[in-house]
Order: sequence, then structure tokens, then C-alpha cells
Amino acid sequence: MYILGINAYHGDAAAALIKDGRIVAAVEEERFNRVKHCAGFPAESVRYCLRTAGIGVEEIAHIGVSRDPSAHLHKKILFAASRAAKQIGGRSSRQSAGGQTDRRQEQSAVGSGQSAGGAGVAEIEDEEIRRTGNGGNGGNGKGPGIFRQVKDRLSNAAKVRDLKDDLARALGASKGSLRAQFHNIEHHRAHLASSFYVSPFERAALLSIDGFGDFVSTMWAIGEGNSIKVLDQVEYPHSTGIVYTATTQFLGFPHYGDEGKVMGLAPYGKPRYIEEFRDIIRTEERGQFRLNLDYFRHHAEGVDMTWDQGSPVIGRIFSGEFVHTFGAAREPGAPLTDRERDIAASLQQRLEEVGFHVLNHLHAETGLTDLGLSGGVAYNSVMNGKILLNTPFRRVYVQPAAGDSGTALGVCYEIHHRVKQTVSLRSGASEINGVTEPVGLRSGGDGNVKGTGSSSEILKAGGAPPSQTIKHPSGAAPPGTPHSLLYNAAAHSGRYVMLGAYTGPEFTNEEIEAELKISDLTYETYSDTEVTARAAQDIAAGLVVGWFQGRMEFGPRALGNRSIVVDPRRAEMKEILNDRIKKREPFRPFAPSILEERTADYFEQSHPAPTMLMVYQVREERRSEIPAVTHVDGSGRLQTVSRELNPRYYQLISDFNQLTGVPVVLNTSFNENEPIVCTPRQAIDCFLKTRMDVLYVGNNAVRRKSDEY
Ligand SMILES: [Fe+2]
Repeated sequence: MYILGINAYHGDAAAALIKDGRIVAAVEEERFNRVKHCAGFPAESVRYCLRTAGIGVEEIAHIGVSRDPSAHLHKKILFAASRAAKQIGGRSSRQSAGGQTDRRQEQSAVGSGQSAGGAGVAEIEDEEIRRTGNGGNGGNGKGPGIFRQVKDRLSNAAKVRDLKDDLARALGASKGSLRAQFHNIEHHRAHLASSFYVSPFERAALLSIDGFGDFVSTMWAIGEGNSIKVLDQVEYPHSTGIVYTATTQFLGFPHYGDEGKVMGLAPYGKPRYIEEFRDIIRTEERGQFRLNLDYFRHHAEGVDMTWDQGSPVIGRIFSGEFVHTFGAAREPGAPLTDRERDIAASLQQRLEEVGFHVLNHLHAETGLTDLGLSGGVAYNSVMNGKILLNTPFRRVYVQPAAGDSGTALGVCYEIHHRVKQTVSLRSGASEINGVTEPVGLRSGGDGNVKGTGSSSEILKAGGAPPSQTIKHPSGAAPPGTPHSLLYNAAAHSGRYVMLGAYTGPEFTNEEIEAELKISDLTYETYSDTEVTARAAQDIAAGLVVGWFQGRMEFGPRALGNRSIVVDPRRAEMKEILNDRIKKREPFRPFAPSILEERTADYFEQSHPAPTMLMVYQVREERRSEIPAVTHVDGSGRLQTVSRELNPRYYQLISDFNQLTGVPVVLNTSFNENEPIVCTPRQAIDCFLKTRMDVLYVGNNAVRRKSDEY
């Protein structure tokens, strides 16, 4: 049975397809249309999913989208009504009491042309952030009345209902030909499903921590066997993601997804504003937290979010209170000072404090030590890397596309298990963990979603082709992964597991060679063993190597299939990469890929990080050995590489280790200020327009001639 999941009409639009509970394909729309964080409808992603499966849309049984306009509807309407009442009653007093501050702030932020935005770490996706799908201005953010808000909600709901129209258009099919059953899956349930049903855990605590989605910012749950039971949530307008995005805007980083820059800036500062941030976001009992709303606009005035099949643009979230407390907002591009560094450090520390507050409560409530983590804030790899140090959790699974693109996958699995549940109900009983449970025990609509059955196979590389699937006898660890907690857990549970992220397009050697010939490039072709040995030699010789192999990654990280790889021993490689290719801010770190079994030799923690979503401290004595991947505070956002997940990349690092004695390479995404390359054509174009030294595409290598620099 095929199930199609879609994340549409906001940032990181994506599609995923599963068959009988196994991933066929999952991909972000930005990789096709080349617009970063593209919102709108993921038409090309859907077409790719169908192409990969070799099916027509009529063969899909269920289609879902990761939004449910009806979720929490009564709370949304109550909130809108109370806001409208406050605005009617409070407008005159605000003009006299706070107007001056607000006007100053308008000049510094809006008047300068700043188009505040942001996502990734703190994606924003909510009913309260008014949006327009036509690229127009959704309003001036001043005092929308209840009627305007209800109208907005209805049009937003209608947009979701348009899913069927958009899908038919994307596929050039008639609406009548879409015989699938359509579903709206609540945003955070999609996140939670994405972090549990493909995790190695039979039983786990789950946390989705986010900007907003369907009126909720944070949701925690317990996953067991084939069920997820929601325990509690934090509702609008309180959100850790909102705090991170608002502060990112204030610090002069205006684009959707810029939160990662602030995370990279934080280690340069001191948290001297920590008390201010403890006032901005306050923890409460039972894992809850609340914002000091004086610092924000989203709850009071609404914030516009616009797109036009392009990158989302989010209006200013922070209020004049930020200016009162910290001084004027930094203009984008202005020099960074200690103030910005210290604000970033304080924000990061406070995010971690609140994150651990929620997680410690989640552990206390569940007693579990395995954790599935998702949501935009789960891209904060610095926080993730400290979870084992600050909470009782012992194993952590972070879904590779933890942000909104991953909800496409969550939608698939949520539907999959609901369908299983229905089938079980019809048969009179359900089976959980091999134990038959009387139907009378299950409750409807309480967050429990229960299904049956799980694959006994573990999927290598998160991909679909049968050749990438490996089987392990129950209880046996996969060979060659003595340190892999996650693999061992997967083997024990016997579940279908996505440990990698290699679910995107791949290309045959014929297709690759055809592109090389069209480009009139001279290239050499190597055997499978030669190609990694040659590339390792090039890396060790200090060359900048493009490395394009196999299926493209799902999620924000290049994990050795669409990567640029260089020597981490050479401190100057950071500057070389920035100068020749990446053009990134100099304070941003580059990441190491390390042979998984050598992790403990180089890092203070050894829990696997196969999707590069953990930051650990590099061992003091190793820092001078790999300076290009050691951040200013001695940390590194590592990718642990096992042979099972990515044999060719593992071999490349092994060959580099043979040459140099260092089992680490620097891995940065294959792109130049654009989405990560998807096709050989895009890889070649990136190679030609940058000053990369060698491009390995499949088994072929193209070398830049010395007179081309
Ligand atoms: Fe989200």
C-alpha cells in the first residue's frame, strides 16, 4: 500500500512516499526548483516520489498533509476574540504610553527595509502568522479585527483544502482520478510520528519542539510499539522557536533559516544577558514555559509571512521591548560587536536551559531513557549534543529532516499506523508489542494512534532499493558497528529504521557521463576501490574535492553524497572554502565526518550522530590535530559515519585515515549560496563557477586545470 505525505504551503515544502511501511522516497522541493526553503506546493517532489516508485497517482491509497486547520479550533477562535477585544480596549493607551518606542523600532527594523524572517532552528508555522500565497503583503500587522482573523483562518483552511487541486495540477491529472483518501495530520503529531516510527526504539519519550504548528509550539509524548500517546503541549503564543527567531532578527540576520548563524555565533560571546533571557522565557511546573509577551509582536499584532513558491519571508516578531533592554537592533551587514555575540550566547544558553527543563520533565513523567527528537528547534545541534550531559536520556534519535520537511514523512507513518489500527479494529483486536489488547482499552481522539506489525528488516541508508536493505537476526548487532547504540537498538527491536537520510534522487553512470560529455569536460574513470583512494589522496594533498555519489540526502545536512570534502588538519581550509566557494560569515564553523568507531578517540562523547545533528566537544589533545573542524569553543558538529549507512563515504574516510592517520574529514554541503546540488548537471555547474579543485561524480573525476584559477 502506497502512502504519500506532503508538507505544503509553508517553508521547506517536501514530499515523501512509503510502501507497506518502508520509505520509497523523501525529498525537499528546494532541491528541484533551486529556491532555498521553498514554500508552496511541492509539485516536483511529488512527481519524483511517483517516478521512483514507478507508479501513477491512482495507485496511491492515502495522501496526507501536515496541517490540520480543525485542530484546536476552539482555542484559536477564543484567542482571536480575546486579542481583538484587547486591541479595541487598549489601542489608545498603547499609543500614548508605548508609541514612541514602537515608532523608533519601526525605523530601525522596518524602515531600513529589513525583511525579518527565519526558520530552521525556529521555524514558524502558525495560524497566527498571517500568510499570503501570492507574494503580496498579507497586511500591515496593525490591529486586525476578529472578522479579519476569522477570514484569514478560513482562507488558510481553504488553501489546505486546495491540496487536491494543486496535486491534480502538478500531475496533469483530473481531480476525479485522485482516488486516494485525503488526510489532514496535525503538525506536531506528524513531527512526533517522524521521530518514532522510523526510530530504532520500541518504546521512547518523544519531543517535538518548534516555532509553531497548528497553534502548538511544543508537544511531548510517549511512543510504544505502534502507538503514540500525547502527554502535554505548550500552546500559542509561547514558543522557544519564536524566541530564537525574534532574537535572530534583532541581531540582523533576516532570512528564513538564519537561526543556525546565531547558534554558530554564540560560542564567541559570554552569556551576560542570561537574566534578561530568563525573563523573556520563563519555565513553569510540569515542563511548561511561557514567554514574557512584552518582548514580542506575534500575539498582539500578528506577523506576516509571505511566499510565492519562494523562500518564506516573516515579518518582525520582536517588539520595542527588545530595544529597551538591549539597544537598537543591528542592521543586517553591520559589524558584529560583543553585544551581538553576548546576546547570541545568552539566547543559546537559555534555549538549552528551557529544552532540558522540558526534557527532564519528560523523563520524570515517562521514566524512559530513549528519546525521539523533532521540530525546528531540534536543528539546534548544540543543544542536542548536551542532552546526554544534562538529562537522564541515554539514547537520542534525531530524525534527519527534523524540521518541517520531515513532517511529510511523519504524515506517511501516522496514516500507516492509523490504517493498521482500523484494520485491527475491524478484526476485533489490536496487537501491540506482540500482545493482543482488547479493543475496549483504546480510546478515540486522545492522541493514541495504534497500529500493528513492523518490518524485521533494517533499512540501510534510509533508502528504498532492495539492494540497500540488510537483514539482521533479532538481537544481533550489525557487523562492524561495535559502538553504534542506535544500530544495536535497531537490531534488537527488529523495526524498520531510518538511520541515514539517503532518500533522494540518484543517477546512473550513463546519465553522469552524458552530462560530463555535454560539458566538454575531460575526466578519468576509476574502479570502485580506486575512486575513494584517489579522492583521499587529493584531500590529503590539500585540494578542495567535490563528492557527488548515490542518493541525495533528505534534510538540511550533506552527509557524504552531496558534499565538499577537504583536509581537517589544515586550519587554512576554512578560509579557502569561504574564499573560493561558500562565502559564509567567517564565524561559522565547518563540520567533521568521523569513522563511527573512532568517535571516542576524538570527541568527549561517543553516542552516534549519523545525521550531523549533535555538537560534541573535541578532546583537548585532538583540537590542534583537526583545527579546521574545531569551533572556537572546542566543539565540533560531527557526523559519525558507519560502513553500513554509507559504504563509499566510509571507505573514503578510511582511505584518508590510511594516508594520514586521521579518521576525520571536513564535510560541507555541495553548494554555493543555493540549495544543495541535486543533479550531476548542478554539481558540474557548481564546480565550474567556483574554484573547486576536483569533482568526483560517481566513479569519474574532473580536475581543474592549473591555468583555470
Ligand atoms: Fe514544525
